[in-house]
Amino acid sequence: MRQSGSPMNHSFGPRRPSFDLASALARDWHGGSAFRTAWFNALSMMLPHGERFFIDSVNEFRDKIEDPQLKSEVQAFLMQEANHMHQHQAVNKLLCEVRGYDMQAIEGPILKRAEWTQKRLPAIRRLAGTAANEHLTAVLVADMFRHQDSFIDADPDVAELWYWHGVEEIEHKSVAFDVYKAVGGTLKERRMVQIFGTIFFLSGTLRIVGLMLKHDGKLWSLREWLDGFRFLLVKPGVLRRAFIPYFRFLKKDFHPWEDDDRYLIDEWEAKRQPQ
Ligand SMILES: [Fe+2]
Ligand SMILES: [Fe+2]
Repeated sequence: MRQSGSPMNHSFGPRRPSFDLASALARDWHGGSAFRTAWFNALSMMLPHGERFFIDSVNEFRDKIEDPQLKSEVQAFLMQEANHMHQHQAVNKLLCEVRGYDMQAIEGPILKRAEWTQKRLPAIRRLAGTAANEHLTAVLVADMFRHQDSFIDADPDVAELWYWHGVEEIEHKSVAFDVYKAVGGTLKERRMVQIFGTIFFLSGTLRIVGLMLKHDGKLWSLREWLDGFRFLLVKPGVLRRAFIPYFRFLKKDFHPWEDDDRYLIDEWEAKRQPQ
């Protein structure tokens, strides 16, 4: 029986790009905006922990998958996420070195929360959380590719890190969801976990933005916060635009590939081919 909900012939695997970001990360690389720079830097700080969580959650159920297609997608998912984790760990280490951020202060609460979820939540709930977060990620990156306005004025090399990561998030967007379904995950739990997962994710990211702005002496800059508010919720409104697609996850018959956005992957691949 087919347990994978991916389009037929959809296949993917990890790419191995390398990035040289030391000089960009030392600056407010997002168009000189302290908030926008801190927003993406904070997301980068969250990612390796999220990805560790996603890898472990899916790994726990991989032996229960029978469909060879989904089995190979799980393998590719694990490789892509492990690669993302390592790239962002390297970026984060560099970022803290060049800007003087306190890695321990940033990571401490994330590690505590990770320990708590590992101990207290059943494996199936952690898997539901992974499926929900993968949906949030897929929605945000699809928006980023469609509108091409998330990195206007940003350093192109840092932007490329996000585009590379984003493309692979689209490619594997249904893996955790399909595994969750295949092992008997329920609609009720999926719905409940989405809201909590998003609250944790957004509050965790904003906490780190606050720490970074404080370190940079911009925590009380009304201008920076207004700029951030505008970027996230008004123009371009990268969070606002994701609002409706985000809630599609609550539908009974939802599937991540109901929005077949593989053309975004093709467009990105075509652009990076050597001329
Ligand atoms: Fe990832
Ligand atoms: Fe992912």
